[in-house]
Parts: sequence; C-alpha cells; structure tokens
Amino acid sequence: MSKIKSIYYCQNCGAQSATWVGRCKQCGEWNTYVEERVTVSPAASGGGKSVSAESKPLPLSEIRAGGDENRIHTSIQEINRVLGGGIVPGSLMLLGGEPGIGKSTLLLQLALSLPQHQKVLYVSGEESELQLKMRADRLPETNDNCYIVNENNTEVIFRHMEKLLPDLVIIDSIQTLQTPALESSAGTISQIRETTAELQRFAKATATPVFLVGHITKDGSLAGPKILEHMVDVVLQFEGERNYGYRIVRAVKNRFGSISEIGIFEMTATGLREVQNPSEMLISNHSDDANGIAIAATMEGLRPFLIETQALVSPSVYSTPQRSANGFDIRRLGMLLAVLEKRCGMRLMAKDIFLNIAGGLRPDDPATDLAVVTAILSSHFDIPIDSKTCFAAEIGLSGEVRPVSRVDQRIGEAEKLGYQRIFISAYNGKETAAHRIKVQRISKIDELLPALFQN
Ligand code: TYD
Ligand code: MG
Repeated sequence: MSKIKSIYYCQNCGAQSATWVGRCKQCGEWNTYVEERVTVSPAASGGGKSVSAESKPLPLSEIRAGGDENRIHTSIQEINRVLGGGIVPGSLMLLGGEPGIGKSTLLLQLALSLPQHQKVLYVSGEESELQLKMRADRLPETNDNCYIVNENNTEVIFRHMEKLLPDLVIIDSIQTLQTPALESSAGTISQIRETTAELQRFAKATATPVFLVGHITKDGSLAGPKILEHMVDVVLQFEGERNYGYRIVRAVKNRFGSISEIGIFEMTATGLREVQNPSEMLISNHSDDANGIAIAATMEGLRPFLIETQALVSPSVYSTPQRSANGFDIRRLGMLLAVLEKRCGMRLMAKDIFLNIAGGLRPDDPATDLAVVTAILSSHFDIPIDSKTCFAAEIGLSGEVRPVSRVDQRIGEAEKLGYQRIFISAYNGKETAAHRIKVQRISKIDELLPALFQN
C-alpha cells in the first residue's frame, strides 16, 4: 500500500527536511523550503524487489560498443562539434540558458535539421502547437518527420513515444513536466528529479537520445538541484548577450566528448545562423588612426579567435577615479594597471579607465592581457596601434610577459586573417611551422612600447 508523506525540499539545492526551516543548512539560502507531498510506494521505499533480475555482469571485451558511426549527425555543424561528433544514441542531454536566449529556437532547428528519415518528437509544455508552427515557419529548415505535441504529463508523453517510436525526443522544458506518480506541482525539486529519472530510464532502455531544456536561475546556475546535472550525460550551456546577436553553446559536461568545444551562432530574423568564422565578426573595422584599440589572439576552447579590446583613458574629475570593464574581469584590470604603475612608471592614478571587449564576449583566456595593456597604453599616449598587429600573452605581477598555450594555433589564425605582426612571450617555445607573419617576442612589459614602434 502506498503512503502519502509530506517532505520539505530546498528549491535551491534539493536538501530535504521533515519540517519547514527558514534557512537551508546545506546551501545557506533563506526561504527556499517548499512543502511537497510525496507518495511513497512500498517498492520505492525498499519493500519490493531491489535487485533487478535481468542485469548481468559482462567482461568489457564482450560488450559491443557502437562506434562513432552510430551517432546521429545533424546538419548543424556547430552542434555536432559541441557534442563531440553528433548525438549519441540513448544519451540524455540538457540545454540550459536564460529566458529568451533561443533554446527553443535552437532545438526546433535541430529537430528540423535531422536526416529526413529520422523521426523527432518535440514535446512543449510552454508553447502551443500553433505557436511552434509559427516559429517553425520562420526557420529555413523543413522536416515532415517532426512531430509536435503540447503536453506535460509524462505518462501521456511516454504513450506518445511508444506509438511514434521517435529517433530523437525534445522536452521543452523539464520544469513544466509532471509525473502522476507524485503529487507536487510541476517545477518542484521532486518532480524534476522524478521526471528526469523516468526520461533517463526511457533513453537508456530504448537507445533514444533525449534533449531537455532547463531554465536558469538569476545567478546563472541551472534551476533545480545539482542532481539534474548529475543525472544527464551532457550539459550544454547556451549563453550570449541579449543585445548582441551572438550566441555561444558550450559543453560544461560531456560523457562522450571533450568539453572544450564551443558552437557559435548568430540570431537572425530567420532563426539561428551558424558562424563558421568567428574572428571576422568580432573585429570591427576601425580606421588606422583610432587609438585605444588592440587585437587579442585568444582561444575559446580549442578554437582560436581574434577579438578587439578597446580602452579609454581620460583625466578624472573625481578624487576616486573610475574603473570600468565590460567583458573583462575588473580585478584583473586592477592588477594590470598596478603592474603598469609599478613596472613602467606610468601615472594612471588620476585617470578614469574604461575597458570594453567588442562583440559582447567575455574571454577568460589570460592571453588577452597583453592586448588589454596595449590598448590602455595606446589610449594613454594617444598613439594608434597598427591595425595589422595582434597580441597573445599573459602578464605576470613582476611585469614579465608570460607564455600562453597553443601559440602556433593563434599565430596561424592571425596569419590567416591577414595580420602582419603578432606579439608573444619570449618564453614561448619555437614555433613548429614557418610563418609569413612577423612573430615578435618580448619578455618584459617595458619592452612593449619600444618594440611596438620600431619597425
Ligand atoms: P526562444 O527560442 O523562445 O528562447 P528560449 O526558449 O530560450 O526562451 O527565443 C526567443 C527569442 O529569439 C525571441 O526574443 C525572438 C528571437 N527570435 C529571432 O530573433 N528570430 C527568430 O527567427 C526566432 C524564431 C526567434
Ligand atoms: Mg523556450
């Protein structure tokens, strides 16, 4: 016989308690406990058979692995790339992102871009069939094998799946699903946990890949407890600045591939467009005499990128000068300024300094340092930097110019895009390939200015 229990769950971290508490002991958040009524069936609570009779240990050598040829290749190359070469059968994937970033659009495009003989079931708990049809009409892709249903009861969804036998299932979103096995309302921790577990069993048993959309909380983490991230095989993060058209899909967990790959898209009037050559879009066309601009050769994952850093140094009217950074860590900017003061003898104390990374990107690659410092020097002295020069090095506290990883790839990308000179650290090993681009090596920050202006 099943028995009904009431449990209080922290909606932030998933901790549970028999009574209501104001502050979660586990994560320290206030007012996050919500009462959820849980029906505990004897089987689930350990009264039933706990060991499945069907499982059998096998030697590793006898397990037949499906190679890469089993993966589903979508016609969206950027998605194939982030997933490590296509969708793995039976995998449970989670796509997280802020509202309005384009999660539903991306997955609908994905559904429409599968090979024509593959059936897709798109389950939306948020939009009606008509709304999805209107969205699909704006997209360039078409697919007659894409089925749409507006439903949030998992029992009904599983019935649809049994009838339709789809090759891919998309659930938009996990927070709208509700299993009749539990009484709590959709979006609560126990519902998220249970519906994800049901989908996981389905995915593994039928080898059908399942994509889940997950909402994101205001601090940027996935709504619902960490447990969601543990249960799925792949976690993709969809990010980007709302004001710019660029969107980046990043793998933060991938059981079947590397997590250093990213996919880049641009939101257009007809859906998301893949961006094959990111550097071109990230560098604005500035005239040769604009000062305060320097190009950094950075890496995002395994991909080299050239991005523009812009600085403005101006006399401050306040006693406390302003420091502002857009797309760059403000504390790191403070450190670079201190290095310039101390090691180059520059007086920046009475200056307002603004820094901007063009395109709304936030590179976390330390190789951006040298370009940032150059942009500041350029604005400070009112001297423009040659637009065919770029930079790739980290700056240390003692003013040393430090080596960065994958310097060959950075040099190669800069050369491909027509740059004529790149500054790197003297401590970076010799390049393995011959380059047409002039590679200039410096070891100390005070060598930068003389090196920049000698030709
Ligand atoms: P959506 O996929 O609904 O976001 P999410 O599911 O992450 O909440 O994307 C919504 C935004 O995308 C919306 O603000 C409009 C924009 N958009 C376009 O600019 N072009 C398009 O072709 C589509 C379908 C959406
Ligand atoms: Mg949506």
